[in-house]
Amino acid sequence: MITLFDPKTDIDLGTPARDSDVQVTLNIDGRSISVPEGTSVMRAAALLGTTIPKLCATDSLEAFGSCRMCLVEIDGMRGYPASCTTPVTEGMTVHTQTPKLATLRRNVMELYISDHPLDCLTCSANGNCELQTVAGQVGLREVRYGYEGDNHLADVKDTSNPYFDYDPSKCIVCNRCVRACEETQGTFALTITGRGFESRVEAAGGENFLDSECVSCGACVQACPTATLMEKSVVELGQPERSVITTCAYCGVGCSFRAEMKGDQLVRMVPDKNGQANHGHSCVKGRFAWGYATHPDRITTPMIRKNITDPWQEVSWDEAVTYAASEFRRLQQKYGRDSIGGITSSRCTNEETYLVQKLVRAAFGNNNVDTCARVCHSPTGYGLKQTLGESAGTQSFDSVMQADVILVMGANPSDAHPVFASQLKRRLREGARLIVIDPRRIDLVDSVHARAELHLALRPGTNVAMLNALAHVIVTEGLLNQPFIDARCEGTDFAHWSEFVSRADNSPEVLGAICGVDPADIRAAARLYATGGNAAIYYGLGVTEHSQGSTAVMGIANLAMATGNIGREGVGVNPLRGQNNVQGSCDMGSFPHELPGYRHISNEVVRTQFEQAWNVTLQPDPGLRIPNMFEAALSGSFKGLYCQGEDIAQSDPNTQHVTAALSAMECIVVQDIFLNETAKFAHVFLPGSSFLEKDGTFTNAERRISRVRKVMDPLGGKADWEGTVALANALGYPMNYAHPSEIMDEIASLTPTFTNVSYAELDRHGSLQWPCNAAAPDGTPTMHIEEFVRGKGRFMLTGYVPTEEKVNMLLTTGRILSQYNVGAQTRRTENVAWHDEDRLEIHPTDAESRGINEGDWVGIGSRAGQTVLRARVTERVAPGVVYTTFHFPESGANVITTDNSDWATNCPEYKVTAVEVSRVYHPSEWQKRYQAFSDEQDRLLRERRQARGAKAEVRR
Ligand code: SF4
Ligand code: SF4
Ligand code: SF4
Ligand code: FES
Repeated sequence: MITLFDPKTDIDLGTPARDSDVQVTLNIDGRSISVPEGTSVMRAAALLGTTIPKLCATDSLEAFGSCRMCLVEIDGMRGYPASCTTPVTEGMTVHTQTPKLATLRRNVMELYISDHPLDCLTCSANGNCELQTVAGQVGLREVRYGYEGDNHLADVKDTSNPYFDYDPSKCIVCNRCVRACEETQGTFALTITGRGFESRVEAAGGENFLDSECVSCGACVQACPTATLMEKSVVELGQPERSVITTCAYCGVGCSFRAEMKGDQLVRMVPDKNGQANHGHSCVKGRFAWGYATHPDRITTPMIRKNITDPWQEVSWDEAVTYAASEFRRLQQKYGRDSIGGITSSRCTNEETYLVQKLVRAAFGNNNVDTCARVCHSPTGYGLKQTLGESAGTQSFDSVMQADVILVMGANPSDAHPVFASQLKRRLREGARLIVIDPRRIDLVDSVHARAELHLALRPGTNVAMLNALAHVIVTEGLLNQPFIDARCEGTDFAHWSEFVSRADNSPEVLGAICGVDPADIRAAARLYATGGNAAIYYGLGVTEHSQGSTAVMGIANLAMATGNIGREGVGVNPLRGQNNVQGSCDMGSFPHELPGYRHISNEVVRTQFEQAWNVTLQPDPGLRIPNMFEAALSGSFKGLYCQGEDIAQSDPNTQHVTAALSAMECIVVQDIFLNETAKFAHVFLPGSSFLEKDGTFTNAERRISRVRKVMDPLGGKADWEGTVALANALGYPMNYAHPSEIMDEIASLTPTFTNVSYAELDRHGSLQWPCNAAAPDGTPTMHIEEFVRGKGRFMLTGYVPTEEKVNMLLTTGRILSQYNVGAQTRRTENVAWHDEDRLEIHPTDAESRGINEGDWVGIGSRAGQTVLRARVTERVAPGVVYTTFHFPESGANVITTDNSDWATNCPEYKVTAVEVSRVYHPSEWQKRYQAFSDEQDRLLRERRQARGAKAEVRR
């Protein structure tokens, strides 16, 4: 009986797995094994537990066959074939260990070592170097050629990249880095230049790695078998000693990582090859940008103050939560039960967001709880619930590998969801066809070996018109999947919808003029989507953050239902969620109208269930949304806010409106890791904990619940969930949890889509996609297979209403790869090497007509406010459109954005703001005021350090 290795371990099996129904049986060193057809001899041997020496092979990359280390003997085959490039055949007999092979391998290794620095003992890879390991495996004892003569030992290091070094003297030209950049990342930044002895790795497009086309994903570093490409943190700190599997705290891809530790110090983050969302890949943020977690700016002691003009006073946790609780109760007594509320965080864990909404509903006694999804994907929740019956994406990321046509709308995965973008590009290289609908010429439109067949560069604010025009073509040209519609969808609603979209005023010829897109391209896109095989839609904030965001989401669901592109692999409706746990924060009942699991607060049966579990009476009416909280604050009826892990002063639209509302409140409690922009208006600061400092779970964009595991103690003394528990207890509402697993058990007991979720099950499966219950104990990778969650799919009418924002120039906003959201984390890392300020992208024609050159200061004004940014003149944006990111508070991108919002959910219309743009020479008045306020708050924070140890004098 032969025991196969568990391929779900980190053992490198040399070459990738093959998927085949045909099994091939062969004999290796006298033992028999059956493997799928197409498997390499090397992998088959590794599955038997037989190690064949290798250098250029690794199981994350296709075999290359260059190092000649893995030679074997095969009966009936001449010579010594490389086991990595030789596929198994039926009846094959392989010998991996013979005297001749031992000599050959030793000779090859001797050549490598003769041109390699002999500094193993002081090398950063010592103990974790494949060259060193293989030299030991082949028994090399001496090098006959000496170390004189031509060699590469004096080659100069490239240390330009802030996170890794390139030391060419240690390169064995195995090509793994080049293949990782191509196959895993899809950037094609590396090449091997020169031949023979002159061969060397070069990063294209620049003098060094930093200036090159490299996007610093680190795949090459991970693939390198030597110390040639090596993390600076390992060079500095040495090899790690232990590792803990956890989940990235940045974007909605939810990559799984091994946090590699030395003592309690994090040495490096290595993407977990068993990670079901990322399969061993990552981007620059997750792999490298974790330095913020121990940045000196971290505030690790609770602080209180009576007024925001007072210096902060450091106090104990007990004093801080007691003060916060007494203030909240005072406000409720004076202004009423509904005068306070809370905001949950999409950066915190499911357990933490659950507790904050529970605290608001049970301890505050109202439903004034909301979350940042209000300003990003709330239209997804609404639109998909209306049409499909569930407020979440329908697929796994892996589903894209079955797609024949991929439609990306209002999303820029290369920057915002980079690991998914790499997977998508891989599918495009395999032949899938791409349609991009976006005002900007995003990277996917024209990247290496992955080009969009159609780029519909529509005017900002015309998504619904575009979707209606696409639907018009599908209906009027007979491209509907009628059997699917008849079997799966509500007939009456379909009839209304199809009559509506068939009208002449929804034709591409009419709506194309509104969108600014050639009608022929719209027709071509509709035909391709409807007839090109499996068609999948991926969309982002460029769809939701509009006054018709919910309408556009319903329009997308309509297209998928009309063409039968839903309910199987390779198709579906896939919202690319922004923050790491935005799906989870919505699932956990963070919206004022919904309890966990998207059940309306007015539902008496559900409410009663929670009332019994929480031992309170709950209010049956929805509470205030974030924009309503601001309005109520300005009108004097909303006075207190508990804000965990969000920076609404920077992230929400119309900054001046937001800061006026914050200034009008009497008690703002901020729980965060830094004194962010919102905390500058706070009266109580509770130290937050980074993802490294707590246990919990995140739920990514594919509904995948993954464990977050604590690797170090909270720097501020409490994990965020412990802070909420302390505040609840101080408010007189008892919360008792010894560990976040108990919170998850409570969530599972109250949420039908989570019934089978527990930490034990998550540890057993690695991760689970909800719904996960008796009907689907192992989770649900693909939704709506047999029927929609709501039963029959519902087509919704999607009348186009032009945005009110219409002038010559429109501002739209977005993200960049190296920075994340409000930048509080990434601005405190070396990622500023790539992006240290927000710039305004402007088309050359618009720039020229305004006398604007690259790098000039440009004033941007809307009816909400003015700010000043430096110009980047680029054809990425169309004439009439300007674009900026919002990662730096002083840029004031949201000073410009207005309070226009989605009709159904109040999601702000970030993507469309009418602006005037002109050359200027000074900061805007807002920027001057912001700087003065910010400097003053920094001073008050500094003074708190001088007040260290002072007793709280703030109590009333
Ligand atoms: S870091 Fe990533 S993008 Fe840069 S060269 Fe390596 S694999 Fe390519
Ligand atoms: S840098 Fe590393 S991975 Fe790339 S060719 Fe050299 S040794 Fe191989
Ligand atoms: S793709 Fe997203 S989840 Fe993955 S490493 Fe990058 S930021 Fe983290
Ligand atoms: S490992 Fe097979 S040739 Fe390098």
